[in-house]
Amino acid sequence: MVNPPQIIHADFFAYQREIPSDFVDLVISDGPFGVTTQAWDRPGNIQQFNLELIRIFSRILKPGGSAYLFGKPDCIDFIDYRPHLQLNAKIIWYQPSRLAQGRINYTNNYDIIAYFSKGNASTFNLEDIRVEQLVELEHRKRCENVPSVKNGTYGRTMFNPKGKNPGDVWGDIKQLTYRSKELLDRKYLNTIQKPEKLMERLILASSHPGDLVLDPFAGTGTVLKVAHRLDRNAWGVEQDEKLIQAIHKRLGLG
Ligand SMILES: C[S@@+](CC[C@H](N)C(=O)[O-])C[C@H]1O[C@@H](n2cnc3c(N)ncnc32)[C@H](O)[C@@H]1O
Repeated sequence: MVNPPQIIHADFFAYQREIPSDFVDLVISDGPFGVTTQAWDRPGNIQQFNLELIRIFSRILKPGGSAYLFGKPDCIDFIDYRPHLQLNAKIIWYQPSRLAQGRINYTNNYDIIAYFSKGNASTFNLEDIRVEQLVELEHRKRCENVPSVKNGTYGRTMFNPKGKNPGDVWGDIKQLTYRSKELLDRKYLNTIQKPEKLMERLILASSHPGDLVLDPFAGTGTVLKVAHRLDRNAWGVEQDEKLIQAIHKRLGLG
């Protein structure tokens, strides 16, 4: 039995002091990127801001717990996170449909989701996040004939009929558009609301039913909604009163 999602109306940096150490199984942090003109998106130096978050996550995570930190390609450049958390992957969330309007450089069309853990990750549920193999039979056969090296010995590369590891470039989950049924309001498009499928993959991979999932920047409550549906305990912190109301409505909490 999981508890109803906890929605906390607060500034995360102030609130986090009340969270005990070694307490949280999974953090999903989709906070400021420092790229828009919205008041909440002006973190100053984004790398220093993210380092402060990483320090906090390191304290509140259980040993082996995981944290996903969303940002732009440079979001953790030139900071030393290694004393605090282990970086396991920099997932690229590729959005080919992002408007390519740049004139003097290549337009950025991906976000980073930096995947950290406190020591080695204790949970990685690959079986729950496999994705379809998009290879034709001929190619598949060819792959199976290419030996793979495991512990120094050669073996057949096996095609797994249940699907493959999603890898670290995710182009299969689209950002919401104004037509998406799950979009709560057009004003949340692009900068705020994220697709449920994206949060679902992170939650399934890095937590178990009954675990505690924390979203320090809850926005419209996507993580809370999906985590609850997947039988995880969910806590979300959000500083904007209007979004707190939107979360209550979305989760049917009156
Ligand atoms: C990108 S949005 C999160 C969107 C969310 N993942 C969703 O799907 O709806 C970031 C949110 O962080 C909130 N925020 C920014 N700084 C905060 C802080 N210090 N404490 C709590 N919330 C904050 C903003 O109000 C904004 O709603």
